[in-house]
Amino acid sequence: MKLKSLLSPRALLGPAGGLVYHWRALRYQKKLWRPFRDQVAIWLRDWALDCQLLVLIGPSAGYTLPREFVLRFQRIVVVEPDPAAFLLFQSRFLVPVDWQREDFFDLSSSKPNPDKLLELFSRYPAGAFLFCNVLGQLPVLLREKRAAIESEPRKMKKGKSASIKPRQDITAEVEAYMQRLAEVLRLARQHRPDLKMASYHDRFSRELSRPNEVIDHLTGVLFEKESHRKEFPWRLTPQIEHQVEFWCC
Ligand SMILES: C[S@@+](CC[C@H](N)C(=O)[O-])C[C@H]1O[C@@H](n2cnc3c(N)ncnc32)[C@H](O)[C@@H]1O
Repeated sequence: MKLKSLLSPRALLGPAGGLVYHWRALRYQKKLWRPFRDQVAIWLRDWALDCQLLVLIGPSAGYTLPREFVLRFQRIVVVEPDPAAFLLFQSRFLVPVDWQREDFFDLSSSKPNPDKLLELFSRYPAGAFLFCNVLGQLPVLLREKRAAIESEPRKMKKGKSASIKPRQDITAEVEAYMQRLAEVLRLARQHRPDLKMASYHDRFSRELSRPNEVIDHLTGVLFEKESHRKEFPWRLTPQIEHQVEFWCC
């Protein structure tokens, strides 16, 4: 991801990461987030692992990760584009960490394709991979990116009018991306049956003042054929609740 896009108002202020997220964590992690953080800790304690290398994808500063889990590993890789998150992660856990800023979800390309994740799995053959509440953010980030492109001043070429994608096309693009992501995650496990992978991710979210307007984070396709899935609510703020799915292998 380029520095320009990292420092854009969307990256800094978007609720899926950046300053808004850090502010919410500062305000709510100790009390409001407690039941959710406890649930993450119980689930991770039961994840059977004998690896020495942990690859965390999108952990922000690790606000929802228990310290004792992270400290079990000899080597930690953090895949996270937010530089502030990385610095805060280091100051919270006080362990040496390899920082990967590469965008393995390919969000910044003109035709985002999640196949690049296969590179991440093969780069760390001995690693256990934990997707930290990031997979459900992908539809949000993809739509935000599209909105940013649409709001840019159009570059009109002589004799050509700029095309604006209809809303249905964007929805279809995002759904196709999530379907392909489901295939990529399945392929990775087919190629390496011993691969250790886990994810907690949004299934749905809603504002409590509008209980009938639910946002589907399109993660239902990701592990739909797998057993051992669990769900738990996360009250992100007093007004917003997320329903989070947990899955590991
Ligand atoms: C909702 S936050 C989750 C934060 C953290 N996992 C937690 O539970 O506190 C989503 C995180 O995904 C990160 N993210 C965004 N794009 C990413 C990418 N391409 N690769 C890895 N992480 C990304 C954001 O910077 C943000 O920290």
